[in-house]
Amino acid sequence: MHGGLTARIVEAAAIEAGAVVVDIGCGAGDTTYAAAAAGAGRVVGVDVSAPLLAEAERRRTGREAGEVTFIRADAQTYGFAAGSFDAAISRFGLMFFSDPRIAFANIATALRPGGRLVFSSWQSPQRNEYFTLPLSVLAARVPLPNQKADGPGGFSLADPDRIRDLLSGAGFDQITITSVEDTPWIARDVDDAVSYLRSTTLARSVLPTLDDEANHALDNELRMALAPKQTADGLRLGTATWLVEARYSAP
Ligand SMILES: C[S@@+](CC[C@H](N)C(=O)[O-])C[C@H]1O[C@@H](n2cnc3c(N)ncnc32)[C@H](O)[C@@H]1O
Repeated sequence: MHGGLTARIVEAAAIEAGAVVVDIGCGAGDTTYAAAAAGAGRVVGVDVSAPLLAEAERRRTGREAGEVTFIRADAQTYGFAAGSFDAAISRFGLMFFSDPRIAFANIATALRPGGRLVFSSWQSPQRNEYFTLPLSVLAARVPLPNQKADGPGGFSLADPDRIRDLLSGAGFDQITITSVEDTPWIARDVDDAVSYLRSTTLARSVLPTLDDEANHALDNELRMALAPKQTADGLRLGTATWLVEARYSAP
Protein backbone atom coordinates (compact mmCIF):
# COMPACT_ATOMS: atom_id res chain seq x y z
CA MET A 1 0.00 0.00 0.00
CA HIS A 2 2.74 2.46 0.92
CA GLY A 3 5.61 1.08 -1.18
CA GLY A 4 6.03 4.28 -3.19
CA LEU A 5 6.29 6.32 -0.01
CA THR A 6 8.87 3.94 1.45
CA ALA A 7 11.09 4.50 -1.57
CA ARG A 8 10.71 8.30 -1.22
CA ILE A 9 11.60 8.18 2.50
CA VAL A 10 14.66 5.98 2.01
CA GLU A 11 15.87 8.06 -0.94
CA ALA A 12 15.46 11.34 1.00
CA ALA A 13 17.34 9.86 3.97
CA ALA A 14 20.39 9.58 1.65
CA ILE A 15 21.61 6.51 3.52
CA GLU A 16 25.34 6.09 2.99
CA ALA A 17 27.06 2.70 3.08
CA GLY A 18 27.47 1.68 6.71
CA ALA A 19 25.17 4.41 8.07
CA VAL A 20 23.36 3.85 11.37
CA VAL A 21 19.61 4.45 11.07
CA VAL A 22 16.69 4.43 13.50
CA ASP A 23 13.13 3.76 12.26
CA ILE A 24 10.64 5.30 14.70
CA GLY A 25 7.23 3.61 14.99
CA CYS A 26 8.56 0.95 12.61
CA GLY A 27 5.47 -1.28 12.84
CA ALA A 28 6.02 -4.49 10.88
CA GLY A 29 9.40 -3.29 9.63
CA ASP A 30 8.80 -2.37 5.97
CA THR A 31 10.89 0.78 6.14
CA THR A 32 13.41 -0.77 8.54
CA TYR A 33 14.27 -3.49 6.03
CA ALA A 34 14.16 -0.98 3.15
CA ALA A 35 16.82 1.12 4.93
CA ALA A 36 18.97 -1.99 5.41
CA ALA A 37 18.57 -2.87 1.73
CA ALA A 38 19.66 0.68 0.85
CA GLY A 39 23.07 -0.02 2.41
CA ALA A 40 22.77 0.98 6.06
CA GLY A 41 25.31 -0.71 8.32
CA ARG A 42 22.82 -0.98 11.16
CA VAL A 43 19.11 -0.22 11.42
CA VAL A 44 17.15 -0.14 14.67
CA GLY A 45 13.37 -0.33 14.47
CA VAL A 46 11.54 1.08 17.51
CA ASP A 47 7.86 0.47 18.22
CA VAL A 48 5.54 0.13 21.22
CA SER A 49 3.56 -2.72 19.66
CA ALA A 50 4.70 -6.25 20.51
CA PRO A 51 2.49 -7.92 17.84
CA LEU A 52 3.85 -5.63 15.10
CA LEU A 53 7.43 -6.22 16.21
CA ALA A 54 6.79 -9.98 16.16
CA GLU A 55 5.58 -9.58 12.58
CA ALA A 56 8.68 -7.51 11.78
CA GLU A 57 10.90 -10.32 13.15
CA ARG A 58 8.92 -12.88 11.15
CA ARG A 59 9.72 -10.96 7.97
CA ARG A 60 13.45 -11.29 8.49
CA THR A 61 14.82 -13.06 5.45
CA GLY A 62 18.49 -13.22 6.37
CA ARG A 63 19.29 -11.33 3.18
CA GLU A 64 19.22 -7.88 4.82
CA ALA A 65 22.36 -5.99 3.86
CA GLY A 66 22.52 -4.16 7.19
CA GLU A 67 22.18 -5.54 10.67
CA VAL A 68 18.53 -5.06 11.66
CA THR A 69 17.36 -5.07 15.26
CA PHE A 70 14.01 -4.18 16.84
CA ILE A 71 13.38 -2.59 20.22
CA ARG A 72 10.02 -2.44 21.97
CA ALA A 73 9.98 1.04 23.46
CA ASP A 74 8.18 4.38 23.58
CA ALA A 75 10.32 6.56 21.28
CA GLN A 76 9.17 9.66 23.19
CA THR A 77 11.12 8.67 26.29
CA TYR A 78 13.49 5.85 25.26
CA GLY A 79 17.07 6.56 26.31
CA PHE A 80 18.81 6.54 22.93
CA ALA A 81 22.59 6.98 23.13
CA ALA A 82 23.19 10.64 22.25
CA GLY A 83 24.42 11.26 18.71
CA SER A 84 24.32 7.57 17.84
CA PHE A 85 22.35 7.72 14.57
CA ASP A 86 23.14 9.20 11.15
CA ALA A 87 19.45 9.27 10.20
CA ALA A 88 16.01 8.80 11.70
CA ILE A 89 13.18 7.70 9.43
CA SER A 90 9.49 7.10 10.01
CA ARG A 91 6.53 6.20 7.84
CA PHE A 92 3.45 7.47 9.72
CA GLY A 93 5.04 6.64 13.10
CA LEU A 94 5.45 10.14 14.63
CA MET A 95 1.81 11.21 15.02
CA PHE A 96 0.95 9.37 18.22
CA PHE A 97 3.15 10.90 20.91
CA SER A 98 1.44 12.12 24.08
CA ASP A 99 3.94 15.02 24.13
CA PRO A 100 5.40 15.61 20.65
CA ARG A 101 7.75 18.36 21.90
CA ILE A 102 9.48 15.93 24.25
CA ALA A 103 9.39 13.18 21.61
CA PHE A 104 10.97 15.26 18.81
CA ALA A 105 13.64 16.53 21.22
CA ASN A 106 14.39 12.92 22.22
CA ILE A 107 14.72 11.86 18.57
CA ALA A 108 16.93 14.90 17.88
CA THR A 109 19.41 14.01 20.60
CA ALA A 110 19.66 10.46 19.21
CA LEU A 111 21.01 11.98 15.95
CA ARG A 112 24.57 13.10 15.32
CA PRO A 113 24.92 16.80 14.45
CA GLY A 114 23.81 17.15 10.81
CA GLY A 115 21.88 13.86 10.98
CA ARG A 116 18.75 13.65 8.86
CA LEU A 117 15.17 13.15 9.94
CA VAL A 118 12.80 12.01 7.17
CA PHE A 119 9.19 11.04 7.79
CA SER A 120 5.73 10.93 6.30
CA SER A 121 2.53 12.12 7.95
CA TRP A 122 -1.03 12.39 6.68
CA GLN A 123 -2.33 15.67 5.32
CA SER A 124 -5.83 16.70 6.47
CA PRO A 125 -8.62 14.12 6.25
CA GLN A 126 -10.36 16.31 3.63
CA ARG A 127 -7.41 15.74 1.29
CA ASN A 128 -7.52 11.97 1.85
CA GLU A 129 -10.30 10.10 0.10
CA TYR A 130 -8.71 7.04 1.72
CA PHE A 131 -10.23 8.27 5.01
CA THR A 132 -13.16 10.46 3.97
CA LEU A 133 -14.90 8.00 1.70
CA PRO A 134 -15.33 5.14 4.21
CA LEU A 135 -15.74 7.54 7.15
CA SER A 136 -18.60 9.42 5.48
CA VAL A 137 -20.46 6.11 5.09
CA LEU A 138 -19.70 5.11 8.68
CA ALA A 139 -20.61 8.55 10.09
CA ALA A 140 -24.10 8.29 8.58
CA ARG A 141 -24.73 5.29 10.85
CA VAL A 142 -22.71 5.87 14.05
CA PRO A 143 -21.33 8.92 15.87
CA LEU A 144 -17.56 8.97 15.40
CA PRO A 145 -15.11 10.10 18.10
CA ASN A 146 -13.47 13.48 17.48
CA GLN A 147 -9.68 13.72 17.44
CA LYS A 148 -8.48 16.79 19.34
CA ALA A 149 -6.80 19.10 16.82
CA ASP A 150 -3.39 18.93 18.47
CA GLY A 151 -3.80 15.65 20.37
CA PRO A 152 -2.14 12.39 19.35
CA GLY A 153 -3.71 10.74 16.32
CA GLY A 154 -3.42 10.15 12.60
CA PHE A 155 -3.83 13.85 11.69
CA SER A 156 -1.77 15.46 14.45
CA LEU A 157 0.96 16.38 11.93
CA ALA A 158 -1.37 17.49 9.13
CA ASP A 159 -0.55 21.18 9.60
CA PRO A 160 2.84 22.12 8.05
CA ASP A 161 3.17 25.11 10.43
CA ARG A 162 2.86 22.77 13.40
CA ILE A 163 5.45 20.42 11.88
CA ARG A 164 7.89 23.34 11.39
CA ASP A 165 7.24 24.61 14.90
CA LEU A 166 7.84 21.18 16.50
CA LEU A 167 10.96 20.52 14.44
CA SER A 168 12.60 23.87 14.94
CA GLY A 169 11.76 23.69 18.67
CA ALA A 170 13.68 20.38 18.83
CA GLY A 171 16.78 21.80 17.12
CA PHE A 172 16.13 20.85 13.49
CA ASP A 173 16.74 23.14 10.51
CA GLN A 174 16.81 22.85 6.69
CA ILE A 175 13.16 21.76 6.97
CA THR A 176 11.39 20.89 3.72
CA ILE A 177 7.81 19.66 3.52
CA THR A 178 6.71 18.17 0.19
CA SER A 179 3.20 17.14 -0.77
CA VAL A 180 2.97 13.58 -2.09
CA GLU A 181 -0.34 12.68 -3.75
CA ASP A 182 -1.08 9.13 -4.80
CA THR A 183 -3.86 6.58 -5.44
CA PRO A 184 -2.35 3.53 -3.74
CA TRP A 185 -3.66 0.00 -3.89
CA ILE A 186 -5.95 -0.49 -0.88
CA ALA A 187 -7.49 -3.90 -1.50
CA ARG A 188 -8.17 -6.50 -4.20
CA ASP A 189 -11.86 -5.62 -4.50
CA VAL A 190 -14.78 -4.15 -2.54
CA ASP A 191 -15.22 -7.23 -0.33
CA ASP A 192 -11.51 -7.23 0.53
CA ALA A 193 -11.75 -3.47 1.27
CA VAL A 194 -14.81 -3.87 3.52
CA SER A 195 -13.08 -6.62 5.47
CA TYR A 196 -9.96 -4.43 5.84
CA LEU A 197 -12.01 -1.41 6.95
CA ARG A 198 -13.87 -3.52 9.51
CA SER A 199 -10.52 -4.53 11.02
CA THR A 200 -9.39 -0.95 11.73
CA THR A 201 -9.24 0.28 15.31
CA LEU A 202 -11.92 2.91 14.70
CA ALA A 203 -14.36 0.43 13.13
CA ARG A 204 -13.81 -2.12 15.89
CA SER A 205 -14.53 0.55 18.50
CA VAL A 206 -17.83 1.78 17.01
CA LEU A 207 -19.33 -1.16 15.08
CA PRO A 208 -20.32 -3.25 18.13
CA THR A 209 -22.98 -0.58 18.81
CA LEU A 210 -24.81 -1.58 15.60
CA ASP A 211 -27.20 -4.53 15.43
CA ASP A 212 -26.89 -7.25 12.74
CA GLU A 213 -29.31 -5.55 10.37
CA ALA A 214 -27.50 -2.21 10.59
CA ASN A 215 -24.13 -3.93 10.14
CA HIS A 216 -25.39 -5.68 7.02
CA ALA A 217 -26.75 -2.41 5.63
CA LEU A 218 -23.46 -0.67 6.40
CA ASP A 219 -21.52 -3.29 4.43
CA ASN A 220 -23.79 -2.73 1.43
CA GLU A 221 -23.41 1.05 1.70
CA LEU A 222 -19.61 0.67 1.87
CA ARG A 223 -19.62 -1.64 -1.17
CA MET A 224 -21.67 0.90 -3.17
CA ALA A 225 -19.39 3.79 -2.20
CA LEU A 226 -16.20 1.84 -2.94
CA ALA A 227 -17.28 0.18 -6.21
CA PRO A 228 -16.35 3.18 -8.43
CA LYS A 229 -12.80 2.96 -7.06
CA GLN A 230 -12.20 -0.53 -8.49
CA THR A 231 -9.52 -0.59 -11.20
CA ALA A 232 -8.06 -3.45 -13.22
CA ASP A 233 -5.22 -3.34 -10.70
CA GLY A 234 -7.18 -3.51 -7.45
CA LEU A 235 -9.20 -0.98 -5.48
CA ARG A 236 -7.45 2.39 -5.20
CA LEU A 237 -8.21 5.48 -3.09
CA GLY A 238 -6.63 8.93 -3.19
CA THR A 239 -4.13 9.90 -0.49
CA ALA A 240 -2.21 13.07 0.35
CA THR A 241 0.77 12.90 2.67
CA TRP A 242 3.61 15.20 3.70
CA LEU A 243 7.15 14.04 3.10
CA VAL A 244 9.17 15.92 5.71
CA GLU A 245 12.95 16.30 5.67
CA ALA A 246 15.10 18.08 8.27
CA ARG A 247 18.65 18.17 9.61
CA TYR A 248 19.56 18.16 13.28
CA SER A 249 21.69 21.18 14.06
CA ALA A 250 23.13 20.54 17.49
CA PRO A 251 22.85 23.49 19.92
C1 LIG B 1 0.45 4.08 11.47
S1 LIG B 1 1.55 2.93 12.19
C2 LIG B 1 2.91 2.96 11.06
C3 LIG B 1 3.75 1.72 11.13
C4 LIG B 1 4.86 1.59 10.10
N1 LIG B 1 5.82 2.68 10.21
C5 LIG B 1 4.29 1.52 8.71
O1 LIG B 1 4.35 2.51 7.97
O2 LIG B 1 3.75 0.46 8.36
C6 LIG B 1 2.19 3.83 13.59
C7 LIG B 1 3.15 3.01 14.40
O3 LIG B 1 3.71 3.83 15.42
C8 LIG B 1 3.80 3.06 16.62
N2 LIG B 1 3.88 3.98 17.75
C9 LIG B 1 2.91 4.80 18.21
N3 LIG B 1 3.35 5.52 19.24
C10 LIG B 1 4.65 5.17 19.44
C11 LIG B 1 5.65 5.58 20.37
N4 LIG B 1 5.39 6.50 21.31
N5 LIG B 1 6.87 5.00 20.29
C12 LIG B 1 7.13 4.04 19.36
N6 LIG B 1 6.21 3.62 18.45
C13 LIG B 1 4.99 4.18 18.49
C14 LIG B 1 2.57 2.18 16.57
O4 LIG B 1 2.68 1.05 17.41
C15 LIG B 1 2.52 1.82 15.08
O5 LIG B 1 3.24 0.66 14.78
